[in-house]
Amino acid sequence: MLRESARMAHLFDPLTIRDLEFANRVFVSPMCQYSSTDGLPNDWHLGTRAVGGAGLVMTEATAVLPEGRISPQDLGIWSDDHVEPLRRIVRFIHEQGSVAGLQLAHAGRKASTRRPWEGHGAVPESEGGWKNVMAPSAIPFTESYPMPQALTRDGIREIVAAFAAAARRACDAGFRVIEIHGAHGYLIHEFLSPLSNQRHDDYGGSFENRTRMLREVVQAVRESWPKSAPLFVRISATDWVEGGWDLEQSIALARELTQLGVDMIDCSSGGSLPHAKFPVGAGYQTPFAQRIREEADILTGAVGMITSPAQAEHIINTGQADAILMAREFLREPYWPLSAARELRQSVSWPVQYLRAAPGDAHARVPVDLDRLKSCFEEQHAIPERYSSNSVL
Ligand SMILES: Cc1cc2nc3c(=O)[nH]c(=O)nc-3n(C[C@H](O)[C@H](O)[C@H](O)COP(=O)(O)O)c2cc1C
Repeated sequence: MLRESARMAHLFDPLTIRDLEFANRVFVSPMCQYSSTDGLPNDWHLGTRAVGGAGLVMTEATAVLPEGRISPQDLGIWSDDHVEPLRRIVRFIHEQGSVAGLQLAHAGRKASTRRPWEGHGAVPESEGGWKNVMAPSAIPFTESYPMPQALTRDGIREIVAAFAAAARRACDAGFRVIEIHGAHGYLIHEFLSPLSNQRHDDYGGSFENRTRMLREVVQAVRESWPKSAPLFVRISATDWVEGGWDLEQSIALARELTQLGVDMIDCSSGGSLPHAKFPVGAGYQTPFAQRIREEADILTGAVGMITSPAQAEHIINTGQADAILMAREFLREPYWPLSAARELRQSVSWPVQYLRAAPGDAHARVPVDLDRLKSCFEEQHAIPERYSSNSVL
């Protein structure tokens, strides 16, 4: 069923997931901006890419706890204070006809590190770093990264609850998509990969045990997030290292996540080891999206070195994935969908302010129809009791 409909699809066709319609299949991939103070967003965040006409504009990795930030300057959603400034950004994105999505994250053993343009490795406490860097096992990413503490069961439970609380806040802020960040060597991926997870309890060892933390996070978020709204999970489909996490495990995981109410797997790769070698090139991760889509029967997003309209259209049109996520190309060209649609001779809406520059057949932007999901968001009054911070899972 999935495959049949996608074979016919084009890049700028709408995509419906649960009760939400995306105007097209060009999604902005999450990108850290390292530009927050106390996790709060500011005017730097996101607006341009909505003007550019992406179907989904996703935030950067947004920390569910302060110690789950990658750098001290990461975006966060660990307190109610984060909701109002996010709401303002979300409102703008929806007015532009793009759906606003939020990526929920915990950096695990890669936390408390420098933002890229200020060097590498751990940030000392004197410069805003922190001591409580947590991971499945006490193994640092590299020698220059913080030595993490192995999480206790209570610690895991608190993080799962923090994901649920963050999902609730994302809902309050008006986001309509959540993506759980389970990739790139951050906390959830650290549990998945036998290279970073060397626990001997029921969170380590077997596939079932290593995937437990992610399954618990998914369940907690799904229960705190409206039933009619989409939930995505980003994974690293492979560690690119013998003996690590691999595509076969990703397919098995995707099958389980479908059962737990995940709608799309965003298929990235790598990040768990500093020196893993992988064949970076045009569309190099797209085969993962295709295999997972075919074998787990779930919607997938393709990401990684997708830059040209013809390449993106081909991926969608041949049913390799259901959406394209682009990161760096959106930094180079925030209005990529506008020029890509023109090149592909497909239709995309333009901001009314820009219509005089648009091709003759362009139509004016229509804000996202929030009413369709309103009642379901209003019903979500609270985090389910079992995920409130003082209850036991
Ligand atoms: C500046 C920058 C920041 C990024 N931050 C995140 C992030 O917060 N979360 C995430 O899942 N991926 C992040 N990524 C990875 C991208 O989402 C994407 O997967 C990767 O860049 C490959 O896509 P591309 O070839 O289109 O750039 C980041 C990439 C860049 C360039």
